[in-house]
Amino acid sequence: MSDTYTEREYSSLIEAAAAAREYSYSPYSHFRVGAALLCSDGTVYTGCNIENRAYGPTNCAERTAFFKAVSEGKRSFTAIAVVGGENETVWCYPCGVCRQVMAEFCDPDTFQVICGKSADEYRVFTLAELLPEMF
Ligand code: THU
Repeated sequence: MSDTYTEREYSSLIEAAAAAREYSYSPYSHFRVGAALLCSDGTVYTGCNIENRAYGPTNCAERTAFFKAVSEGKRSFTAIAVVGGENETVWCYPCGVCRQVMAEFCDPDTFQVICGKSADEYRVFTLAELLPEMF
């Protein structure tokens, strides 16, 4: 990536996602996930995964962030950073359900999904790349 300003923005969003991961409630999978959603107005909403003993009600970190933001009136989004796992050794990509939630609110060609291992090791995708031929 050549744009330094954007790189710094990516890094700070990943750091916000990593901080949110600290609140992960994941006693069943032990897979801790954090997300940070950047709204078009510059505000950031964070989320973590919240598991349930019945498994089905589990909510992913990305959806937690989206639902927090939408429930407070936000409708326009720029990017989301996602970090998963205990350390900087795994890539964590959004599940299909979260991709579909993103599709409800985001421009597939411009919304960026930043999958971070660390603040300076990350992969960036557009939503269209992650969810082609979407519903
Ligand atoms: N999970 C997320 O929060 N986001 C993802 O992108 C992938 C999966 C959560 C759901 C569950 O709590 C745990 O990770 C293991 O699947």
